[in-house]
Amino acid sequence: MKANMASQTAVVVAAGTVITSREPRFQNLVTESARRFAQDFVRAARPGSMLPALIEQRWFRNVMSLVQSVTIPGLFRHHILRKAFIERQARLSLQEGIRSFVVVGAGFDSLALRLAPEFPGVQFVELDHPATQRVKRRALGSFPENLRFESVDLGSELPTPEVATPALTIVEGVLMYIPLETVEKILRHIGQSQGALIFTFMERLTVGRIGFYNQTWLADLWLKRKSEPFKWDASQTEIEAILVEAGFTRIEFWNSEKYHAAFGHGDGLARGETICIART
Ligand SMILES: C[S@@+](CC[C@H](N)C(=O)[O-])C[C@H]1O[C@@H](n2cnc3c(N)ncnc32)[C@H](O)[C@@H]1O
Repeated sequence: MKANMASQTAVVVAAGTVITSREPRFQNLVTESARRFAQDFVRAARPGSMLPALIEQRWFRNVMSLVQSVTIPGLFRHHILRKAFIERQARLSLQEGIRSFVVVGAGFDSLALRLAPEFPGVQFVELDHPATQRVKRRALGSFPENLRFESVDLGSELPTPEVATPALTIVEGVLMYIPLETVEKILRHIGQSQGALIFTFMERLTVGRIGFYNQTWLADLWLKRKSEPFKWDASQTEIEAILVEAGFTRIEFWNSEKYHAAFGHGDGLARGETICIART
C-alpha cells in the first residue's frame, strides 16, 4: 500500500458495508452500529469528498453494482458475509474465555470497537499500518478503555502486541497484500503463543491467476494503481503445511461457498477468499 495514504481497499470495504446494509436481504447482517462506524470511517478517509453522501443514495448503489459487475461481481455482499461469519466465530472464542482479542490490519472494520464494551474483561488490540490507523483514530475521537491501537508495517515488522493468553488473533483480508515469505514469518510468530487464529487467504483455482475467481483485469489494474495488488494465493494443503510447521493444530477451512451458504446466500457473489481457523 502507499506509505502515506490510508488503505484504499479498506475504504472500499467500509463504503461497501454502508451500501449493502441498505439491501433488504443483508440488513440483518449489518447492525446499526456497524453501519454508523463504516459511515464515519468513509467520511474520515474522504474528507470534503462527495463519497460519504453518495453511498447513501439508491442510484449510486446501482452504479456501484455496475462497477462491481466489471471488476469483482458480488464483492460487497461477499465482504458482509465474510464479516458476519468471522464475528460469529469471534463470539464463540469470547464465550470460550479468551483473554485478548487482536485484530491485525483492522482497517475500517468495527468488530473490536463493538465487542470491547460487551466484554470489558478482555483486552482488545487493533494493529494496522500507521497511514490507515491515523484516519480511523481521527474518526473515532474516543474509544473503549479496554481497546488499544498499535501501528505496524507488516512489510518490515512482525505484529508483536503484549497480550495475555489465550488470545484470538484475526487477520481478515490482509495477508494477500503481504509477500508470502513475510506471511510465513507472521504465522510462525503468532503460532508461538497460546490461542486461536482466524485469517483469510486467496485460495488458488488457476495457476498464474491470483484473485477472486470472477475478478476481471479491470480489478487487477485498479489494485495495482492503488499499490495494493494481491501478492500470492495458495491451496488449503499448502496453508495447512505452513500452519503445522508454525505450531498450529485443529485447522479448519471454510471456503467462500461454504460460509456464504451458512447465511443462506449463493449465486452472484465474489468467490475465492477462504477463511482458515487454527488453534495452537
Ligand atoms: C482490505 S483492507 C481489510 C481491512 C479489514 N481487515 C477488513 O476486513 O475490513 C486491508 C488492510 O490491510 C492493511 N495493510 C496492508 N498492508 C499493510 C502493511 N504493510 N502493514 C500493515 N497493514 C497493512 C491496510 O492498512 C488495511 O487495513
